[in-house]
Amino acid sequence: MSGVTLALVGAGLRGRSYARHALSAGTGRVVAVAEPDPYRRETTATEFGIAPEHVYADWSDLAAAGRLADAVIIATQDRLHTGPAVRLADLGYHILLEKPMATSEREASEIADAARRNGIMLAVCHVLRYTPYTRTLKRLLGDGRIGRLVSVQHLEPVGWWHHAHSFVRGNWRREDTSAPMLLTKSCHDIDWLVHLFGETPAKISSFGNLTHFRAEERPPGAADRCVGCSIEPDCPYSAKRLYLGCLGDPGREFWPLSAVTEKHTEADVLEALRTGPYGRCVYACDNTVVDHQVVNMEFPGGATCSFTMSAFTPMEHRRTRLLGTHGYIDGDGHTLRLVDFRTGGEESIDGRTGSGPSAADGHGGGDEALTDAFLAAVSTGDPTLLSSDAAASLATHRVVWAAERARTTNTVVHLDSLGAM
Ligand SMILES: NC(=O)c1ccc[n+]([C@@H]2O[C@H](COP(=O)([O-])OP(=O)(O)OC[C@H]3O[C@@H](n4cnc5c(N)ncnc54)[C@H](O)[C@@H]3O)[C@@H](O)[C@H]2O)c1
Repeated sequence: MSGVTLALVGAGLRGRSYARHALSAGTGRVVAVAEPDPYRRETTATEFGIAPEHVYADWSDLAAAGRLADAVIIATQDRLHTGPAVRLADLGYHILLEKPMATSEREASEIADAARRNGIMLAVCHVLRYTPYTRTLKRLLGDGRIGRLVSVQHLEPVGWWHHAHSFVRGNWRREDTSAPMLLTKSCHDIDWLVHLFGETPAKISSFGNLTHFRAEERPPGAADRCVGCSIEPDCPYSAKRLYLGCLGDPGREFWPLSAVTEKHTEADVLEALRTGPYGRCVYACDNTVVDHQVVNMEFPGGATCSFTMSAFTPMEHRRTRLLGTHGYIDGDGHTLRLVDFRTGGEESIDGRTGSGPSAADGHGGGDEALTDAFLAAVSTGDPTLLSSDAAASLATHRVVWAAERARTTNTVVHLDSLGAM
């Protein structure tokens, strides 16, 4: 396993997380990096001991050097996945690709085609598939513990401050520079639900709006920035409270604070809030993505699923109720409460990882388990160690695009079968 060599394209928050885990687990080592930000590039090169001749400012320079490693982690921003993924697949790299695969169906198809044509393994970072909790739930369903799955109710509690950070002030706030919220955030949930059902839906509808984080909702007296705002102390979305509160906590200093500033002193944070995007009033930003959305799905056999994403929650694990012909499961991301209709008995099954739901916590153990599975697949040449390949990820992304089509056209969209999941 120690022989897996990695190139890192995009040494941002996600890329460094996967690379650090590979290194600390002893399962992979980073031998090349491409990163335009000089601070991130140099600190990454030093942290991983990368030879200077394999440190690049752009993914295309790394690609021009030919194949330098067994595999590549591509963790650039959403709109910069397709170029490196196709080119590096053509060079024969196995690929760990951040979600969403791409921001359009055409580009995601190009990536899946490149993976197939080159016979490489490509895993999209659908980390939820890899948590011990999901594996336990999948096993309970596979063992028929609740009979036939008839209906699922699923909540994605994004969290009020997380929504403000990423989807009002941050990188995923606009559809035209990133993508719709259902793709940038809830593609995980749609992928996960399809994974649980084992097939893609036949019909889909969706509603959702940007209700709160808009100019009309701005309270009287609010300033354009939190620093100097007279009502900031009482505002739930205070950037000062959120980001100054990260100081001293290494996990929260890495995420979310490193998105705001890589310098973690009170003076540097306040300066970033005075001048940068993360200090803006949430009612005076240029955000366009929804702050709540629902999706309804019907599967070919008649089973149904309702999904809700909302900003207006604490940030915690997803909650899911699974309703079967012979039993019921209620899951909170830690524990699965199973009621067996044959006996009336109840069982509490521990799916816990000890790890929280956020990026700083490794997404409930999913980040580490995904990295381990990918490196094991590369080192053994066994793609069955991965929960999904490029074609399966393309299929679940297509469900997301169908849901967005349904939302924006006020219609029920019918999907052809997109294959087994
Ligand atoms: N799987 C998950 O749960 C999860 C969670 C959060 C984010 N993401 C996804 O991960 C990706 C990265 O997110 P992030 O938060 O790490 O973002 P980030 O902005 O911290 O990192 C992206 C990095 O790519 C670099 N970059 C830009 N142009 C480049 C180029 N030409 N060549 C090489 N590198 C380049 C940037 O300088 C930056 O450091 C996004 O697609 C995001 O949607 C996934």
